[in-house]
Amino acid sequence: MATIYILNGPNLNMLGKREPEIYGSKSLDHLREALDRQAARHENVALKHHQFNHEGDMLECLHGIVDDEDAAGVIINPGAWSHTSIALRDALAMIKVPLMEVHLSNIYAREEFRHHSYVSPLAEGVLSGMGMHGYHMALGFLLAKI
Ligand code: DQA
Repeated sequence: MATIYILNGPNLNMLGKREPEIYGSKSLDHLREALDRQAARHENVALKHHQFNHEGDMLECLHGIVDDEDAAGVIINPGAWSHTSIALRDALAMIKVPLMEVHLSNIYAREEFRHHSYVSPLAEGVLSGMGMHGYHMALGFLLAKI
């Protein structure tokens, strides 16, 4: 079974309640269910969803993906760690399957400290500013590759 990992970083468990004018009114559970429905049309593909508020937990999950022979792709919204974490960048550099970086908001239209992402140079594609559509587009891209 090909596995696509959907990884969300800090504070994204608060979607729906967190600055809804920026991140929208829908919850992370809503997103997960919608992505599962999209993937269900494809036999032999399973999604694994994870959200982390502790960076070390995210890193250990990524180490597990390195060893997962079924891994077929990773979609990650690293949240604020995009702009701060070389450790996250180094863990993602070990991932050999296609990597898609997603941001709900357009990080380039916001504060300057959000304009740089340590993750983007490693990603096959970056979707920023399309809200939850960005995850669906990233998933559609990976499903087309499988
Ligand atoms: C975010 C953008 C980041 O700058 C921010 O820290 C987040 C969410 C987004 O999805 O737009 O936590 O990754």
